[in-house]
Amino acid sequence: MHALHSTAQVAVIGAGAMGAGIAQVAAQAGHPVKLYDNRPGAAAQAVAGIDRQLQRLVEKGKLQPADREAISARLQPVDAIEALADAHLVIEAIVENLQIKQALLRQLESLCAPACILASNTSSLSITSLAAGLQRPQQVVGMHFFNPAPLMALVEVVSGLATAPEVAATLYETAKAWGKQPVHARSTPGFIVNRVARPFYAESLRLLQEGAADCATLDALLRDAGGFRMGAFELTDLIGHDVNYAVTCSVFDAFHGDFRFQPSLVQKELVDAGRLGRKSGQGFYCYADGAERPQALALHSQAKVDGCVVEGQLGVMQPLITRLRDRGLSVTERAGTGLIRVGEATLALSDGRMASQRAREDGLRNLVLVDLALDYQAASRIAISWSADTTGEALDQAVALLRQAGLNVSGLTDLPGLVVLRTVAMLANEAADAVLQGVASAGDIDLAMCAGVNYPQGPLAWAEQMGVGYTLRVLENLQRSYGESRYRPSLMLRRSVAQGARLHD
Ligand code: NAI
Repeated sequence: MHALHSTAQVAVIGAGAMGAGIAQVAAQAGHPVKLYDNRPGAAAQAVAGIDRQLQRLVEKGKLQPADREAISARLQPVDAIEALADAHLVIEAIVENLQIKQALLRQLESLCAPACILASNTSSLSITSLAAGLQRPQQVVGMHFFNPAPLMALVEVVSGLATAPEVAATLYETAKAWGKQPVHARSTPGFIVNRVARPFYAESLRLLQEGAADCATLDALLRDAGGFRMGAFELTDLIGHDVNYAVTCSVFDAFHGDFRFQPSLVQKELVDAGRLGRKSGQGFYCYADGAERPQALALHSQAKVDGCVVEGQLGVMQPLITRLRDRGLSVTERAGTGLIRVGEATLALSDGRMASQRAREDGLRNLVLVDLALDYQAASRIAISWSADTTGEALDQAVALLRQAGLNVSGLTDLPGLVVLRTVAMLANEAADAVLQGVASAGDIDLAMCAGVNYPQGPLAWAEQMGVGYTLRVLENLQRSYGESRYRPSLMLRRSVAQGARLHD
C-alpha cells in the first residue's frame, strides 16, 4: 500500500491546539492543506500561528526561508465546510463529543468523494461508534496524534470494526511519509498509549496513598533508577490532574469498571480542590514564585564496608557486581540463590513480596530488598525496604554498600514490589493483555510507549530483559499481597512462560 501522494489535498477540521499542529505537519510534508473551524476567524488565526512557528524554525536555522514560504503558501484557511469537497484525506480534530463528531462525519460523507479517507484525531472515542450509521464506515479511521503534533513522533492508526484494511494501510504509510512513527491499533478503550500508560500513574498514586514515601522521593526513583523522563507526580502536574483523571475515568468506565484501571482517590481529591497542577499553581507540588521543590529523601550510613559476598545469580541485578567492583569493593562469588551478603545484612532483588514476608517464608535474617533499575551501572538512586527484624546495624551495612557504589539510597516502608519494579511489571502486564486481546502487536506497543510517552524501554522488551517468568512471579506476589484483581497477571505472560515463547513475535 502506498502513502497518499504529497500533492493530494488534505483537509483539517478544528483549528485548536491539535488541528493546527496536524495542519502544519501535513503542509510540511508537501500537501496542500485546507483548515476549517466553525468558530469564525479561528482557522485564519491558527494559520497565522503556524506561520509564527515556522518563522521561529527559520530563526533557529532549522528551516530555510524559501521552505517556510512554500509551506505557508500550502496552508489555506477556509470559512465554509463546502470548500473541503476536493479533499483526499480529512482529519477532524474538533471537540471530543461523539454526537458532534458523528454529525460532522455524516456531513463530510455527503460532501467528499467516496474514496476520501475520513480520519479522526479522537483520543477516547470508539472509531467503531464514530463510523456507525454512516454509508461508508470503511473509510473512517483513527489518526491519533500526540501533543504537540509537530514534535511528537507517534501516530496511532486506529481501525474500527468496519475500517477497510487498505484505508488503515494507506494512512499508516502516509503518516510515515510525514516523518511520523505510525503504529496500528484496534479501536479499544485508550487505544495503545492511553491504556498501557495507566499503571505508570496508578502505581505511584497507590504508593503515595499507602505511605511508601513522599512525592519527591517516588518521582526521583522513577527518574534516577527507572530511567523515565519524569516521575508520575511531576508528570501529572504538567498534564493537569483534570485531564489525566478524566482519561483514567474514561478508560475505567469503558472497561466496565475493571479494577486494573480504577481511578485514584488521591488524584480525585486534587481535582475536587482545584489543585490541577502547574496550570493552577498547585498540584502535588507548589508552583508559586519562590516555592521550594521538596528534595527526595536519602538514607545515610555510618558504616564502612570493604565488599560483599554474592551467592548465585542476581538476575537482572547482576550488573551491580561490576559497579561494586568498579568502585573498588571486593566481591566474592559463590553458589547460592541470588543473595548479597554484607556484614549482618542480606540483600536481594525484590520479587514482589514484602521484605518481612519474604524473610519469614525464606528464613532470611536482616533482609534488605533492592528495587529494579533500568541500568544498575548508570542509575544514580535505588530504593530499598527491609524486614521488621532487620537490625539498625545490618541496615547501616546494606546502605553503606550501595552508597559506596555511588547510589543514593531511598528507604521505603515495607510494601510489595517497591517502586520501579511494580510499575514496570504492571506496565508489562497491561501491554501483554493488549497483545492478547489483539489491540496491537508487541512490537507496535513497545514502539508506541517509547515514541508517544518517551519510556526508556518498551514494557514488553523490559519484561523480556527481566525474564518473563520473573515478571509473572512479581505480579503473582503482588496479587497475593493485595488480594485484588488489579494485579492479576495476563494470560499472555502465563502462556509465554508455559510455552517458553518470547512476547515479541
Ligand atoms: P481544542 O478545543 O483546542 O480545539 C477544538 C477546535 O474545534 C476549536 O477551535 C473549536 O472551535 C473547533 N470545533 C468544535 N466543534 C466544531 C465543529 N463542529 N466543526 C468545526 N470546528 C469545530 O481541542 P484540541 O485539544 O485541539 O483537541 C481536538 C481533538 O483532538 C479532540 O478530539 C481531542 O480528544 C483530540 N486530542 C487532543 C489532544 C490534546 O493533548 N489536546 C491529544 C490528542 C488528541
